[in-house]
Amino acid sequence: MEIYEFGQRLIKEAGEFVRQRMLEDFRVDSKLNPNDLVTDVDRETETFIYDRINEMYPDHHIIGEEGHGTEIDDASGVLWIVDPIDGTLNFVHQLQNFAISIGVYIDGEKHCGLILDVMNDTLYHAQSGKGAYMDDRRLEPIGSTELATSLVSLNPNWVIKERIGSAFAGVVKDARSTRSYGSAALDLAYTATGIVSATLFFRLHPWDYAAGMIIIDEVGGRTTNLLGEEIDILHKDSILAGNRALHGELVQYFADDEAFIEAHRHVHGEKK
Ligand code: IPD
Ligand code: CA
Ligand code: CA
Ligand code: CA
Repeated sequence: MEIYEFGQRLIKEAGEFVRQRMLEDFRVDSKLNPNDLVTDVDRETETFIYDRINEMYPDHHIIGEEGHGTEIDDASGVLWIVDPIDGTLNFVHQLQNFAISIGVYIDGEKHCGLILDVMNDTLYHAQSGKGAYMDDRRLEPIGSTELATSLVSLNPNWVIKERIGSAFAGVVKDARSTRSYGSAALDLAYTATGIVSATLFFRLHPWDYAAGMIIIDEVGGRTTNLLGEEIDILHKDSILAGNRALHGELVQYFADDEAFIEAHRHVHGEKK
């Protein structure tokens, strides 16, 4: 079976697994800080997805947020990048507005991206070069917009951070308005469908953006880091995704701000 077709079937099954599992109690733990939560459902869903891929394609590699693939340090072969629940805080507090995100890369090249809005059972998906879809509906190319008439999504926490906050604040000030959805994968899917015109993050991991980046490509959008540099799929980075015109406009807010650039280099390192 084609990887893309298998991936679509798998993510729908994983969505059903989550919806069923939510009917029972689950444990909530914190990871790096009291607001960084993980639940049994995150871990069990990652294992569910991992086992299915491993059974079907024993020679493929898998990276997941909840512990799979920590030994992987190169992108050769077929690489599945999995976020079993993206938007765990929404999952815990709202029992909705969270996603499963799966991106597949072959020898480091984009292959296909899948994002399931679990409670709405809506699947955003794309295969490289073959267009993007929301369920069975093909998504139109996203049109050009200007910041002054655009909705952009970003997490307000970045605006109040020293050194990086003022660049984000400039965006907030000049945009028509901002939104914060609490799931990076859904932010990227919403950018691909035009619900927002761009989405910005100071720090995301590969499992947050691997699928979304492919879907955005397929509607003619652009994804780089906030300094306009290309993304390396194995590393965390900042992310700026949107229609090309707006992407170009937004990069200037960050690439011209010395304090921001320095803070970015401090957190993410120098690009090769
Ligand atoms: C988080 C969500 C959130 C983003 C965080 C991510 P998680 O993922 O995508 O929207 O702002 O940076 O870590 O932990 O819920 O999978
Ligand atoms: Ca997490
Ligand atoms: Ca995530
Ligand atoms: Ca997660």
